[in-house]
Amino acid sequence: MIRKLFKNARIVTPLDPGRPLAGEDQGKVTRIERGALLCHDGIIEAIGDGKEVAAHNPGHDLDVEVDCGGRCLIPGFVDPHTHMCFAAKREEEFSQRLEGMEYLEILRRGGGILSSVRAARAASEEELFSTTRQNALSALKFGTTTLEIKSGYGLETETELKMLRVIERIGRETPLDVIPTFLGAHAIPGEYAKAPDTYVDILIEKMIPAVSQQGIARFCDVFCEKGAFSVEQSRRILSCAREAGMGLKIHADEVHDLGGAGLAAKLGVASAEHLLAANEENLRAMAEKEVIGVLLPATAYSLRKNYAPARKMVGLGLPVALATDCNPGSSYTESMPFVFGLAVLAMNLSVNEALVASTLNAAYAVGMEKEVGSLNKGKKADFLLLDGESPAVLAYHAGVSPVQEVYKGGELVFSM
Ligand code: NIG
Ligand code: FE
Repeated sequence: MIRKLFKNARIVTPLDPGRPLAGEDQGKVTRIERGALLCHDGIIEAIGDGKEVAAHNPGHDLDVEVDCGGRCLIPGFVDPHTHMCFAAKREEEFSQRLEGMEYLEILRRGGGILSSVRAARAASEEELFSTTRQNALSALKFGTTTLEIKSGYGLETETELKMLRVIERIGRETPLDVIPTFLGAHAIPGEYAKAPDTYVDILIEKMIPAVSQQGIARFCDVFCEKGAFSVEQSRRILSCAREAGMGLKIHADEVHDLGGAGLAAKLGVASAEHLLAANEENLRAMAEKEVIGVLLPATAYSLRKNYAPARKMVGLGLPVALATDCNPGSSYTESMPFVFGLAVLAMNLSVNEALVASTLNAAYAVGMEKEVGSLNKGKKADFLLLDGESPAVLAYHAGVSPVQEVYKGGELVFSM
């Protein structure tokens, strides 16, 4: 039994009311000026004003006492959407995009996601583990303590399973909590370019059953987009995954308003991602079903697109979360502070709204709300010490990481 007290901290955290925070509550956080956090074997036992927490715990049975020096203490980030299990970077493609070639046009020509597929198929499991581990540890340094990672660069059973094994191993062999998502429906593989429905049949008849039999994916995701999967194909795939016991996610209306957000509402998925082009009626329907809207501003930034209408979403009562989308194509960053800054300065979320979006609501998006996402009694002591007095420093001090220390389950796992 290890008891640790972290005192003299400016604590800012959402408190979990048992549901995602939306609308006027999107920015609902508690601020404790001279706060303290007491944890017991990595689980939060008490949090509040320093004096109250000290009274709760007569000092003598403490194993460790840390003076936070008045720094701001917030929950560890939950990054609920990444494709960071990849074998090779795509710097050349980035240059092509800078010269004006569209992201979906690169994919249509067999590059983009499909070039990552060639690299992932060719890589050994060990190679893939080593690149993914590097990405995950980088995310940890930027304050991510819970991380979703998708497969989707295999597009065949064998390589998809290889990716999911690697992703699961990242969860076992790094300090991070990792949530694996099956994204076999990321693109139509070259072999089926002329018969996309045949690939959908294979997903339904072979791949989803194989993945669910191994029990190594918590969610199933689909890239619903022109040139990838139609709304009807997405519906078939997600319905099958639901029957197989997986949670559901969808890349919806990233480039075109196909109606992915409407499907997200109809199916009542856990989260719909991107939503740059989603229409108001479908966003409203999502809000009614409490589907989390996961916004990926680093993707809009890198693709030079308009940002998702975050203010409108909050106005509609849609619970908003934030993620990096870390991948070698459309958004190459592991940094939640960067995403936080974009959310505040480019999408006009308030600092408190962005904090809720990158912690509590993000935890709901990956089904981890009982364990992480806020500093509530009974949750894991996953938190960050910032080089600043409030979470505003994450947007204010641009282009660097103000994350000085990262604690996972009460253990120091990164220090600047
Ligand atoms: O979320 N849009 C689809 N998937 C990723 C990009 C993956 C890639 O380009 O490799 C995304 O942006
Ligand atoms: Fe994505």
